Amino acid sequence: MSTFALVPGNEPVRVVLVGAGAMGRNWMRVIASTPAVRLVGVVDLDLPLARRAVEEYGAEQGDGQARGSGVAPLAGDSLAAVVAESQAQAVIDVTVPPAHHAVNTQALYLGLPVLCEKPIAPTVAQTLSLIAAQEVTGQLLMTSQSRRYYPQLARLKHAVASLGQIGFVTTEFFKAPHFGGFRDEMEHPLLVDMAIHGFDVARYLLDDDPVSVDCRTFNPAWSWYRGDAAATAVFEFAGGTRFGYSGSWCSPGLETSWNGSWRISGARGTAIWDGEGEPEVELAEQTGAVGATTHPDGPAVPVRPEIAGALDEFVDALRTGTTPSGDVHSNVHSLAMVEAAVLSASSGGTVRLADVLDEAYAAALQNELRDDVRERLRSWGSASGAGLA
Ligand SMILES: NC(=O)c1ccc[n+]([C@@H]2O[C@H](COP(=O)([O-])OP(=O)(O)OC[C@H]3O[C@@H](n4cnc5c(N)ncnc54)[C@H](O)[C@@H]3O)[C@@H](O)[C@H]2O)c1
Repeated sequence: MSTFALVPGNEPVRVVLVGAGAMGRNWMRVIASTPAVRLVGVVDLDLPLARRAVEEYGAEQGDGQARGSGVAPLAGDSLAAVVAESQAQAVIDVTVPPAHHAVNTQALYLGLPVLCEKPIAPTVAQTLSLIAAQEVTGQLLMTSQSRRYYPQLARLKHAVASLGQIGFVTTEFFKAPHFGGFRDEMEHPLLVDMAIHGFDVARYLLDDDPVSVDCRTFNPAWSWYRGDAAATAVFEFAGGTRFGYSGSWCSPGLETSWNGSWRISGARGTAIWDGEGEPEVELAEQTGAVGATTHPDGPAVPVRPEIAGALDEFVDALRTGTTPSGDVHSNVHSLAMVEAAVLSASSGGTVRLADVLDEAYAAALQNELRDDVRERLRSWGSASGAGLA
């Protein structure tokens, strides 16, 4: 739970996008289709790339002008300079993960709220540093964990409430993408680059956080990845629910959706979702017999899919002060699930999430370069003292 500064007024929020790569271009399209925000700057270390992105954006918007403003976004390779010149009110960080800590920290200290692509930082220790920086600066820091935002998933969550106590949640994720590039060289490509989405959705569905994990990874003989492209993990949540995740990134044939395939088993019934269509629910009758299959009602507020949904929640938070679900104080638990799963796979044993957070806290204190952030970290006393939501 965060307290953070609001953006006053009714004018579109003036945003600077940092990182004009593949995903940055997607963000520019979504910003263009969102009247509540206005793109006022694009920053990339690769200045010609930033300029090209702005030119293409202008051409798509017509006459090289930003929608509605009559002024094209600035392009630059310095966040501080573009923020100052464009009078930005918020930053969207779509740089590569190793740059997230530095870019987010700089933006917060420029006095701006940040919406950052997942993962919010490469490690839990760096994320704790970001939480402390958020608290020192009083600016919102939110992760765009985009697979939380699907209308069908919102309806599934709505349905889960009717299932009584939840015993077991399972996700199957089986796909066979040939990405090339960095994923092919990672030690744990599935866990680190993809599974965070499923882990985060389990937390979202259960409104609960895990306490321990047992995870095993392996690399099928025909895998085109250097590291382990397949994993099984069982998490135990604080409320007792078990969450089983099985996945492979080299599984051709009958592939699941990108959201995976879900089953939520509760005391009063079961819900399933294939990650694309409508979720289904079957409730047991009071006698124990199987009841009718129903499609759950939708929640009151419509959800735009993926990063558009994240952007809507970010703007709503800046206008109303409502803590968004991707607030860094909460999102750190999704990252901790990944780190704990990797540790469990390496050690072959059960890993407690509290131990992961404690070790990250010690590392964050040791590595912190900013005095005020280190003081804030120290004031928590422990990771649990940070009030992680
Ligand atoms: N939510 C999703 O489904 C999804 C999908 C793809 C990527 N992503 C995330 O989006 C982010 C970007 O991924 P991508 O595929 O666009 O990467 P990319 O490599 O295509 O682009 C990243 C850009 O950031 C720039 N950059 C790096 N460090 C910088 C810095 N310090 N300041 C300014 N610019 C900097 C690079 O020059 C590059 O142009 C990653 O965090 C990735 O995990 C999310």
